[in-house]
Amino acid sequence: MSNFIVKFDNVSLVIEGKKILDDVSFEIEEGTNTFIMGPSGSGKTTILKIAAGLIFPTSGKIRILNKDISNIKELYEVRENIGFVFQYSALIDTLNVLDNVLLPLKFRKRNEFKKRKKEYIDKALEILDFLGLRGFEYYYPNSLSGGMQKRVAFARAVITLPKIIFYDEPTSGLDPISSNQINKMIIDINKKYNVTNVVVSHDILSSKQIASFVIFIYNGQIKFKGKLEDIRETNEEIIRNFFQMV
Ligand SMILES: Nc1ncnc2c1ncn2[C@@H]1O[C@H](COP(=O)(O)OP(=O)(O)OP(=O)(O)O)[C@@H](O)[C@H]1O
Ligand SMILES: [Mg+2]
Repeated sequence: MSNFIVKFDNVSLVIEGKKILDDVSFEIEEGTNTFIMGPSGSGKTTILKIAAGLIFPTSGKIRILNKDISNIKELYEVRENIGFVFQYSALIDTLNVLDNVLLPLKFRKRNEFKKRKKEYIDKALEILDFLGLRGFEYYYPNSLSGGMQKRVAFARAVITLPKIIFYDEPTSGLDPISSNQINKMIIDINKKYNVTNVVVSHDILSSKQIASFVIFIYNGQIKFKGKLEDIRETNEEIIRNFFQMV
């Protein structure tokens, strides 16, 4: 049995005759902080959407947590064990921080929610504390900075104790100090909650701080898979330009 927690085999996606993903194969090992990198429009977000079963590929196989997500029953089991941090945080403006964080439990554990509300609130407060948001639980998202909104989105992803969290551009639009904090938190989440982090990003500095493994995609094709330190040895022009190698 492999310890690969995400596995794409020859995955292609064609929309209106255009190849969005072209024969994409990669594996992600359990416990890693894996970065999916590449320039704008290369297909990074599409990979996350496919991994979450939000869109289905034209061909190819995907296994997440050793389950085949083309099977609807297995997809639902997988969804119970994954968390998502969307590109623009996607918080609900009319709910305060605490209620935003509790949202996945309200949806997934509707029957239990009333019974176990106090326990869930305590859990949410513990996670908010861990992410440096204690004291902000009754604030509304639009009164928080971009970095704090991201952290609320992290808390909302962590609350269900998933095995994998997918992050789409977690540091985009943040200043360097907030970016550093966010990167540190991604590492902390990996360690404390035993989460495999899959981070879509074009932030080179972040990849240097966090990435244990890098998958580089360009025009829907994988151009590199491996450790960041090995990327220097590649001759791919697009990668050398992207990482500003001289
Ligand atoms: N539903 C769709 N219909 C048509 N084209 C699409 C659709 N979704 C994505 N695309 C195209 O697929 C390509 C990859 O898009 P994707 O959003 O995955 O890129 P990305 O790497 O996440 O880019 P960015 O860094 O800008 O977020 C783009 O050319 C995009 O225009
Ligand atoms: Mg994207």
